Amino acid sequence: MKITAQIKAPIRAEMELFEQKFLSSMASKVALLNRITYYIVNRKGKQMRPMFVFLVAKMVSGGRIEERTYRGASVIELIHTATLVHDDVVDDSNKRRGFFSINALWKNKIAVLVGDYLLSKGLLLSIDNGDFDLLRIISVAVREMSEGELLQIEKARRLDITEEVYYEIIRQKTATLIAACCAMGAASVVLEEAETIEKMRLFGEYIGMAFQIKDDLFDYTDGAIGKPTGIDIKEQKMTLPLIYTLNTCTAEEKKWLINSVKNHNKDKKRVREVIAFVKAHKGLDYASKRMRDYQQKALALLTDFPASDYKDALTLMVNYVIEREI
Ligand code: IPE
Ligand code: IPE
Ligand code: MG
Ligand code: MG
Repeated sequence: MKITAQIKAPIRAEMELFEQKFLSSMASKVALLNRITYYIVNRKGKQMRPMFVFLVAKMVSGGRIEERTYRGASVIELIHTATLVHDDVVDDSNKRRGFFSINALWKNKIAVLVGDYLLSKGLLLSIDNGDFDLLRIISVAVREMSEGELLQIEKARRLDITEEVYYEIIRQKTATLIAACCAMGAASVVLEEAETIEKMRLFGEYIGMAFQIKDDLFDYTDGAIGKPTGIDIKEQKMTLPLIYTLNTCTAEEKKWLINSVKNHNKDKKRVREVIAFVKAHKGLDYASKRMRDYQQKALALLTDFPASDYKDALTLMVNYVIEREI
């Protein structure tokens, strides 16, 4: 059995019902919006975030989930989708999930508005059902994601960016949403157990860190991952493999790297040379190592939970985050 099928096995029914609920959560009276949301749901992603919501909920409750667990999963996926639509505008990226991005097909103006629409639909889904504890968790994540994207614009183009700043950027822009998935999954079923909710939040944060390092590693490959690769250097975005390389190469090499990223970032051949240099300098190996550290920290947080199918699936899921090929 494929690893993703194995992960989904204990939440198969929930994921099927989720798909229906997620689709109807986007409905609008505006025909243009419905055309675009139809386009979006037909090109769905890996849906890892709802999977985290359901697996965590079932693990901490011994298999019980609530109606609000479904709403939590939908809110998260709506917000995730909104941020991807916006992110492709910010990153000027024309591909997403193997197809054209919304901005590529409908232009930036429409993509910005569609992202806002999805975000508001997500928040309203919580408000309309009185899920205020879940709404707090998700709102913190939304704020941090915006801060993270802005922090990235402010810092990630600086050629003296440190590893610490990089971790703070990815914590905010990516890890907080996965942290919110796990916190919400727990909060949706064990309302009063603050300690469990916090433990799951931290679990999600560690996974989220590993998840974004993996995403940044993809950018150095030429794999068919459904979105462009080599785009970070083009956008002058410093990520861990390059940060490590800059901090450990000779002064002369550093000068060449900086000049390449600053002045030749649109030159495909030069970008390929930078990528090759980072690889030869073991920048990818270093980033993989840091990614595995986060994976181990996440797994360590699961040890106290009793054995269950859900726990096994979550463990597989943590491993999938760093071994996935898309
Ligand atoms: C992409 O997330 C955005 C990042 C935080 C790197 P996913 O890789 O989960 O995107 P989809 O939903 O599967 O397309
Ligand atoms: C992650 O940023 C997306 C968000 C957290 C909004 P990236 O720009 O690195 O993600 P991809 O690679 O486009 O999916
Ligand atoms: Mg981005
Ligand atoms: Mg992007």
